[in-house]
Amino acid sequence: MKSVLAHIMRKKRGYAALPLFDRLRDESLPAPAKLGFMPGLAFFIMAFGDLNRYVLRQSPATDAHQERVNEHTREDDHHWPWFLEDLEKLGWNKLTTTCNALRTLWAEDTHRSRVLMYDLCGILADCDSVERLAVIEAIEETGNVLFALTTKISDAIQAQTGIELRYMGAFHFALESGHMQNGEHAELARIALSDEARDRCRTLVDRTFDAFAAWTHEAAALIDRATAMPESAWPGTLTGQAVRVEVAL
Ligand SMILES: [Fe+2]
Repeated sequence: MKSVLAHIMRKKRGYAALPLFDRLRDESLPAPAKLGFMPGLAFFIMAFGDLNRYVLRQSPATDAHQERVNEHTREDDHHWPWFLEDLEKLGWNKLTTTCNALRTLWAEDTHRSRVLMYDLCGILADCDSVERLAVIEAIEETGNVLFALTTKISDAIQAQTGIELRYMGAFHFALESGHMQNGEHAELARIALSDEARDRCRTLVDRTFDAFAAWTHEAAALIDRATAMPESAWPGTLTGQAVRVEVAL
């Protein structure tokens, strides 16, 4: 598995160079507009709990690797309430109705966020427990790239407004980074794989990064749309509603 983990880190470097992340690093863009893609990721964020609970987890575990998968799912299946908390704190909960929120969730310009989740379900469909661990690691590293940057943006928003964003900010990032540093990689690296199993894991990792990469272009377009709109419309750009947010950003 060691070479699979090295492959994941190579793929991560390529992923981090995609245009979305240049935008998130661009200090000339206003912090709230840079987070303008987050409502467009809502479907994925909410469904990620289900992916952990109902797709990745298998109880009882059939082997030690699946037990590790299950442990991971118990850490990762309950992060979406912090996303809802952030939406409340940013005042975005006041911007739309239930019907318009559902239209936005299933709109054409947010479809990659949905397809990303369907792709992950497809990638995981025939995986054994070791392959699931490889896919989880790839997902984690894409999250590490994204949340390292949203944390910096959230810090800037907190400095300006005092609002602490727990999902988009340091609270979530610290949790996600924590277990990677807990010696988990060393344990994973010790899993012995046949050449054939290693190649299968690498292919699954490639498919996982490709699925996330396809989503990034949609998110970059949502940021471009937000930055092109007047300040008052930043969070509303996704739903086309130029509604003034009551929270002073
Ligand atoms: Fe998370």
